[in-house]
Amino acid sequence: MKYTLSALTALSLQSQLVRGAYNLVREYSGQNFFTGWDYYGSYDNLTNGDVVWVNQSLATTDQLAFVNGAGNAIIKVDNTSFVPYNDKRDSVRITTEDYFPVGSVFIIDAAHLPYGCSVWPSFWTKGPNWPIGGEIDIIEGVNQMTFNQMALHTQDGCTASPPSDQISSTTLTNCSAVAGCTVAEKQPNSFGAGFASAGGGVWATQFDESGIYIWFWTRSSVPSSINSSTTSVDPSTWGAPTAGYPASTCNITNFFTEQQLVLDITLCGDWAGEASVYQDTCPGSTPANASSCYLDNVINNGTSAYANAYFEISYIKAFNVDGTIVGPSGTASVSPASATAEPPAGSSSASSSSGSSGSGSNTAAGSNGAAAAWGAVLVPTVLALAVGVSALLA
Ligand SMILES: *[C@@H]1O[C@H](CO)[C@@H](O)[C@H](O)[C@H]1NC(C)=O
Ligand SMILES: *[C@@H]1O[C@H](CO)[C@@H](O)[C@H](O)[C@H]1NC(C)=O
Ligand SMILES: *[C@@H]1O[C@H](CO)[C@@H](O)[C@H](O)[C@H]1NC(C)=O
Ligand SMILES: *[C@@H]1O[C@H](CO)[C@@H](O)[C@H](O)[C@H]1NC(C)=O
Ligand SMILES: *[C@@H]1O[C@H](CO)[C@@H](O)[C@H](O)[C@H]1NC(C)=O
Ligand SMILES: *[C@@H]1O[C@H](CO)[C@@H](O)[C@H](O)[C@H]1NC(C)=O
Ligand SMILES: *[C@@H]1O[C@H](CO)[C@@H](O)[C@H](O)[C@H]1NC(C)=O
Ligand SMILES: *[C@@H]1O[C@H](CO)[C@@H](O)[C@H](O)[C@H]1NC(C)=O
Repeated sequence: MKYTLSALTALSLQSQLVRGAYNLVREYSGQNFFTGWDYYGSYDNLTNGDVVWVNQSLATTDQLAFVNGAGNAIIKVDNTSFVPYNDKRDSVRITTEDYFPVGSVFIIDAAHLPYGCSVWPSFWTKGPNWPIGGEIDIIEGVNQMTFNQMALHTQDGCTASPPSDQISSTTLTNCSAVAGCTVAEKQPNSFGAGFASAGGGVWATQFDESGIYIWFWTRSSVPSSINSSTTSVDPSTWGAPTAGYPASTCNITNFFTEQQLVLDITLCGDWAGEASVYQDTCPGSTPANASSCYLDNVINNGTSAYANAYFEISYIKAFNVDGTIVGPSGTASVSPASATAEPPAGSSSASSSSGSSGSGSNTAAGSNGAAAAWGAVLVPTVLALAVGVSALLA
């Protein structure tokens, strides 16, 4: 991690924070999208899927993770290799090096999600000691499902009590059961071919002491305040969430630690490949058995099965009330971004990124010149944090 000194100055702005406004702390987009992620580099030993989640060098040389001509990130299943019986197909699983604490908002803008028989993609979050520390599944679906399914996974004691204005349907309420506490999206075009033909859409996830709330907007309904240049968001302006998990029956700070963001695509495995699920969501092969998903799709050249097995992502952004990110060590908090929603009168806009000289490093709104210019006196607690950061930099 590289944080510039102005990041330390930004820490001093914490006292000015207005709760309710969340400010950009990290952005993954454009040519820098793939900066700041770890690649799994092993076969799927988590969900029994028939993939190898390749390392960064293979993902790059085989063009399984790259930025396309439109400036969007593509993360895909290998659809050019012949896979012999008993082998697995290459795919990608990436996890952010940064951790985002309670008090964060995550936004993803995608044009296309992976779909097709055997395909099981997810955009989700997890803690450093996962499965302890909670999991938020923001985008997840299998095979030819036409809607997105959201879920929390926690230790025992967290249940879903959907708010009365929740848009979508709560399907399971016990967050510690194997399936988690699930919400099935009710709005159209949240997954599959429908999502792509509608031009994609946006999800925002508020990860807050008061609860976890997810919004989904199909392309034509995305609020104008959420766009590629947005540096501050206020979820209170977004109306009813599509899924809500109030803290009243799930104490967020007890069940969730800071979270990393994960993007992955597996094939078959515990959900997509389960015979009855495969039968229902890939009708055709009757009756399906435990090997159908693999035999019908994964082996051989895969060209027809995997033409749509890719994410196309415009950006992922993380916002935070305190401007806080927890470094990979989990020991130091730093604030690489500007810190308030409402700049003091007369100060310049907080939207420009003046940190690095424009080459390579992706610090989002980090090292923000405007934040440094607002200046403020470092208070003792901030100094203590600054010592931690110095250690991290050393
Ligand atoms: C999965 O494989 C990775 C890489 O070999 C290893 O670090 C990890 O402990 C394994 N996880 C499980 C659950 O087996
Ligand atoms: C990446 O994975 C490939 C295939 O397993 C392996 O040959 C290569 O050495 C790995 N590269 C690195 C840098 O680990
Ligand atoms: C939730 O599921 C877990 C695991 O199956 C179980 O131990 C627990 O009793 C369930 N909780 C409730 C409230 O049903
Ligand atoms: C983008 O969002 C910001 C607020 O986040 C807003 O001020 C700006 O007008 C929006 N831009 C467009 C083109 O809608
Ligand atoms: C969560 O639990 C902690 C104590 O473990 C308590 O201080 C806090 O108020 C609880 N939060 C909510 C929203 O109930
Ligand atoms: C399972 O189903 C596949 C077709 O999906 C078929 O090719 C295979 O022979 C079946 N296996 C068994 C053990 O029935
Ligand atoms: C593999 O792809 C080729 C075209 O490149 C096609 O002719 C062939 O039928 C495919 N084989 C299988 C087993 O799908
Ligand atoms: C492979 O997938 C890409 C999308 O990632 C698609 O554009 C291409 O047409 C696919 N190739 C084949 C041979 O289907």
